[in-house]
Amino acid sequence: MEFLNCIASFLWFATGVIAIGQPTTLTFSPDLGGLQLGGSGLAPTIILDSKDWPGVTRAANDLANDFGLVIGTTAKVATGTSDVSNAPVIIAGTIGNSSLIQTLVSASKLDITGIQGQWESFSSQLVSNPVEGVSSALVIVGSDKRGTLYGLYDISEQIGVSPWYWWADVPPKKKSVVYALNTTKTQGPPSIKYRGIFLNDEQPSLTNWVNQNYGSYNSDFHAKVFELLLRLRANYFWPAMWNSKFYVDDSKNGPLADTYGIVMGTSHTEPMARADKEKVKPWDWKSNQANVKKYMQDGVTRAKNWETLWTLGMRGDGDTASSTMDSSTLTQVITFQESALKSTFGDLTDVPMMWCLYKEVAGYYQKGMTVPTDVTLLWSDDNSGNIQRLPTPSEANRLGNAGVYYHFDYVGDPRNYKWINSIQLSKTWEQMHLAHQKNATQIWIVNVGDLKPLEIPISHFLDMAYNMSQFSMPDSTDQWLKLWATRESGSSVADATAAAITTYGKLIIRRKYELLDTSPFVLSMNYDEAENVYNEWVSLLNATQSIYDSLDATTQTSFFEMVLHPVLAGKMVQEIYIKASMNAYYATQKRMKANTFAADVKSAFSADQQISSRYHQLLKGKWNHMMDQVHLGYDNWQDPSSNSMPSVKTVSTTAPSSGIMGVSVQGSTISSPGDAAANLLAMNPYMPDSRYIDVYTRGQGSFSYNITANVSSITVTPSSGTLTYPSGASDARAFIKVDWSAVPSGLSRVGLTVAGSSGSNANVLLTLPLNNVAVPTDFKGFVESNGVVAIEMAHYSSRTAGSSGTTMEVIPNYGRTHSGIMLFPVTASTQTTSGGPKMVYNFHSFTTTNSANVVVYLSPSFNTNPSNPLSYAFSIDDGAIKAVQPVPSATLGTMPAGWSDAVENGARVVTTAAGSIAAGDHTLSLWALEPGTVVQRIVIDLGGVKTSYLGPPESVRV
Ligand SMILES: *[C@@H]1O[C@H](CO)[C@@H](O)[C@H](O)[C@H]1NC(C)=O
Ligand SMILES: *[C@@H]1O[C@H](CO)[C@@H](O)[C@H](O)[C@H]1NC(C)=O
Ligand SMILES: *[C@@H]1O[C@H](CO)[C@@H](O)[C@H](O)[C@H]1NC(C)=O
Ligand SMILES: *[C@@H]1O[C@H](CO)[C@@H](O)[C@H](O)[C@H]1NC(C)=O
Repeated sequence: MEFLNCIASFLWFATGVIAIGQPTTLTFSPDLGGLQLGGSGLAPTIILDSKDWPGVTRAANDLANDFGLVIGTTAKVATGTSDVSNAPVIIAGTIGNSSLIQTLVSASKLDITGIQGQWESFSSQLVSNPVEGVSSALVIVGSDKRGTLYGLYDISEQIGVSPWYWWADVPPKKKSVVYALNTTKTQGPPSIKYRGIFLNDEQPSLTNWVNQNYGSYNSDFHAKVFELLLRLRANYFWPAMWNSKFYVDDSKNGPLADTYGIVMGTSHTEPMARADKEKVKPWDWKSNQANVKKYMQDGVTRAKNWETLWTLGMRGDGDTASSTMDSSTLTQVITFQESALKSTFGDLTDVPMMWCLYKEVAGYYQKGMTVPTDVTLLWSDDNSGNIQRLPTPSEANRLGNAGVYYHFDYVGDPRNYKWINSIQLSKTWEQMHLAHQKNATQIWIVNVGDLKPLEIPISHFLDMAYNMSQFSMPDSTDQWLKLWATRESGSSVADATAAAITTYGKLIIRRKYELLDTSPFVLSMNYDEAENVYNEWVSLLNATQSIYDSLDATTQTSFFEMVLHPVLAGKMVQEIYIKASMNAYYATQKRMKANTFAADVKSAFSADQQISSRYHQLLKGKWNHMMDQVHLGYDNWQDPSSNSMPSVKTVSTTAPSSGIMGVSVQGSTISSPGDAAANLLAMNPYMPDSRYIDVYTRGQGSFSYNITANVSSITVTPSSGTLTYPSGASDARAFIKVDWSAVPSGLSRVGLTVAGSSGSNANVLLTLPLNNVAVPTDFKGFVESNGVVAIEMAHYSSRTAGSSGTTMEVIPNYGRTHSGIMLFPVTASTQTTSGGPKMVYNFHSFTTTNSANVVVYLSPSFNTNPSNPLSYAFSIDDGAIKAVQPVPSATLGTMPAGWSDAVENGARVVTTAAGSIAAGDHTLSLWALEPGTVVQRIVIDLGGVKTSYLGPPESVRV
């Protein structure tokens, strides 16, 4: 596989052709030879068999049109070879449905052995003299309907038409010539058999947009969705269901899906191809069995001629648990459903069925309910991207195998998230890679809310589902993002775009927008956390805006939709909440900057509306309503009726009796003069953060100040200034620098004086503890600062492979701060601390304590195998090894203890007592003992950890 990828990437560099991660078969450079397909005034004729699938003809017309978008001349679609004249020829057909293909095979001109009988596979190759009068043709042959479709759209993507050309306005890349390389490729079968999306939580944004543009969820709308899905190599779809009935709203919907080649499904709560809104009442098996049966039977009758993956089972009315359902009743329901299908289709071998173990439904299974082996068990995540359960060894040989229902958008507990993209791709990779490796490969379906704002996570999910072999390693997300960014915005900005999206994922995994209410989320002033987080958003926006500015106008539009908008809109929401919390903090200091922040919050709140309007006005209103979702001011799981601004305080501009000058230090609300002066936090030569003194106005007026130290080893910048409110700078931050060569070793204290011009009593005396320590010259690793050692996982000192070939691997750009580590491969059995792989982190401490704690930050993942719950172990030096099961065991269908906090915080934080640690050099060893255990951060608390959301900044490494 690696060899093949190597060739593919070589060709990509040589040809500039992009089909994400898939081998290249075209070139835009005549020097590489092959068959010319297009050029100035020249476009191919795409020859099909008239008996091939209608969906193939339809897609061939898309490809013909795509040639027009790229080279300026639309290709022709023909069902015979009579009028090919001198045009280049593409022959496309499906094995078994195309006599043209059959003739080539019979004449031994076309080799189909690699794909025949395979699911959704295709081959593309140049064939000499395929038909009379044609010396050479590009032949695309599909093993089945969708094999051919994907083969056609593969050409579209390679010539420069993104799957998102309409849905995200990615401009087709103009070409002067297109050549088919003289190379053969076969692609497929896909890694996941049924791969698709669920439009859900579609009110207000998608529904308002649909109503404006289509009138309803009708076939014109679905034609757009289905084309997108096929271009993304998906095949499966759950339609919107909050207030719509797919098969009823437009009688053309059902046949349209079948014609396009989309396998229809219905959501977990809508059995037998019927919509929630069609349910017979009372929707109750026990009291209304005959009518419920008829309703289900009617669903089969209605959809029987269209390719369908049948949803079995039964929940309560309206996406809730049924109060009268239990395991034995549900068994009756499923038995009936299978019999209804059997009586319609006879043999069920080729009739796919699934049962989704969503929420309470998994509880019936847990209680011992069995379902027929040909029904796929569709395991669900917790609605927040953490898969709850995956196949266990005893479920390994089920005929229908298993699948995953995943979420990029959700309405419910602990809180809705349905505004814009809030997905960290490396997290999706980690979970779906695990699912793939555990053989949950029959179905992957993802809830995508309004679809439109989730272009990137959708692309990523479906590309993985199509070919997981491109995603076998933990750094695959970064590789994929660069290819994605190249396809959508061009190679010159690909690295920067990928970096922006990666940073966005890191910032948003910390907490979703809807959870940024002020009550549980008070960003800490310790470690300057609130400001640092805000600054991360500012620099992300700055970097993203620079990319945007460098693009041509047409590419800017699509870049705005997919990349700049979430960053811009996201930063504005962060600004509202962070500045509101800083306003409250500064107000306690009577600091005039509180008023500035209050004004900033108000203007950010109105900017938020303007950003939505900008989106709605794009392309003459093409995406009007897509940003209708209320996203500010949540106070419970359900969205509020309108956006609201957090409250802010206004500080009186009359200075307090202690004077206009105020002085504060990091991490303290104390404001002097007035309050007793605060001590500065200690400094040492190994600090990851800086130390400063804030000087500020506490009322209207002006003053000047000088800051002096009583020793020459300290410099303060700026050391003097004038502050004024309301016009001019009202605040100054003076950073402290220490010349450690002039400081006595060990602990000492120096004095600093802030002298203000507002009177003699205005002087503030501050004490600064200095801890002049040094690590041994031969030490390499993390160095304690102020009782803390904070470690990002990628920065290990050494690692050891396990005896059975297992390793600990870094997942780059994973989690809230930096990276994760995981046990690899995830098919490994339970590891031990004697034979398993381990990571070692060296650290040096200056503190001696007998009550150290090790704080481990994990992803909020589940014990997907209840018999082998997630587990890690650590030891310090040669001390006792502590094994930890971070996620409490829970019954299927219920959430493990601590789940809400973990999901809301984007991390599960587990603290374990680590006993005595003396000053000196140490090693921390870490083992991940069960697959799926991902550690994203470790903090060794030697007594100095302060309250914060993300934890202390990473320690200095020497
Ligand atoms: C492709 O390569 C084969 C084998 O080398 C050769 O016979 C054929 O002529 C080539 N076709 C084109 C169009 O270059
Ligand atoms: C997954 O399926 C393959 C092929 O059937 C099998 O070899 C492998 O052991 C399975 N893996 C697991 C974790 O069940
Ligand atoms: C913004 O980005 C530009 C270029 O990427 C950089 O030169 C500049 O310093 C950045 N400004 C801020 C405030 O981050
Ligand atoms: C600050 O220092 C300058 C220069 O020594 C002096 O002129 C000024 O009066 C000082 N200001 C205060 C407020 O002490």
